[in-house]
Amino acid sequence: MSGSTPQLAGRILSGIQPTGNLHLGNYLGAIRNWVALQKSFECLFCVVDLHAITVWQEPKELLRATREVAAGMIASGIDPVANTLFVQSHVPAHAELAWVFNCVARLGWLNRMTQFKDKAGKDKEKASAGLYVYPNLMAADILVYKATHVPVGEDQKQHLELARDIAAKFNNDYGVNVFPLPEPVIKGPGTRVMSLRDGAKKMSKSDPSDFSRINMTDTQDDIAGKVRKATTDPGTLPDSPQGLEGRAEAANLLNIYAALTDRTLEQVIAETAGWQFSQFKAKLTETAVAVLGPINAEMQRLMADPAEIDRVLARGSEKANAIAETVLAEAYAAVGFLPRKR
Ligand code: AMP
Ligand code: TRP
Repeated sequence: MSGSTPQLAGRILSGIQPTGNLHLGNYLGAIRNWVALQKSFECLFCVVDLHAITVWQEPKELLRATREVAAGMIASGIDPVANTLFVQSHVPAHAELAWVFNCVARLGWLNRMTQFKDKAGKDKEKASAGLYVYPNLMAADILVYKATHVPVGEDQKQHLELARDIAAKFNNDYGVNVFPLPEPVIKGPGTRVMSLRDGAKKMSKSDPSDFSRINMTDTQDDIAGKVRKATTDPGTLPDSPQGLEGRAEAANLLNIYAALTDRTLEQVIAETAGWQFSQFKAKLTETAVAVLGPINAEMQRLMADPAEIDRVLARGSEKANAIAETVLAEAYAAVGFLPRKR
């Protein structure tokens, strides 16, 4: 594949979990950047259903969300013909390489992962074993394609570092150079979108309050209502970034506005200095509706024909399997597994 496109800057892999609703954090922190990167990289985008079940998922809902995430990516401008868009469980090599990585990664490395601590909560004994080794599977997702670049939101940076550690240890232990060390690509003011209710928590699919996030499927009225109810403070909007110190909610709304309009925080502060929150919230609503409205409409159109989404994903998994099986065979050979006869 990369042989026919030598002008590309490298190979990208990224993934998104089919859990709950896609939200503005997924769009601004991930999907939107993927759309821009398609021009200069060979791209593989994956709906990571194996990751999703590290916490309980209602089977019917998982199935719906898997198609919806694919529809959300396509509606946002991911081109599934030029790129490879697929479902993780359709490419068995992810789980197979993850097992090898379970044996490469050290417990001490996994014990440092902050996402596990956040997701496992107070009672770690009750977390699934899958949740604990989740970063090893994520490393396999990336390395089974020898991806060189991984665009993600900031919350995934630590997992990316672990993937690099695993790649380096594998190469070193087996005296090979099978895996490149993947680079994170973390860009722009949307890399960390916070909850609309609490500026200290990230916007998340799993937040029990739907008012904490703007979903990609929200109607104009939903968006208006959520922005109106978003937590703010008694001040007016500041005239410099310093004026946002200790004002996490105001900073978050301004960051969202900057990301939606493709500007820097400084630029939007110059526009909104001295405004009341009511005026700013009206502007933010209008902007969010203008960006998300067309995507939402396209998602609904795609979701009306699930068989077509399934066909697109089947073509994607064929392309993905072709690469992944070759890399897995190379890794297995390095480990010393007896070659599989075909
Ligand atoms: P997830 O929803 O956890 O599957 O995340 C999918 C992608 O969206 C990853 O690249 C995350 O880094 C990104 N992402 C998730 N939540 C946020 C957020 N609140 N702000 C920015 N990026 C996010
Ligand atoms: N762990 C990522 C998240 O929760 C999703 C993910 C799984 C991923 N595998 C990946 C992201 C590989 C980038 C590359 O957001």
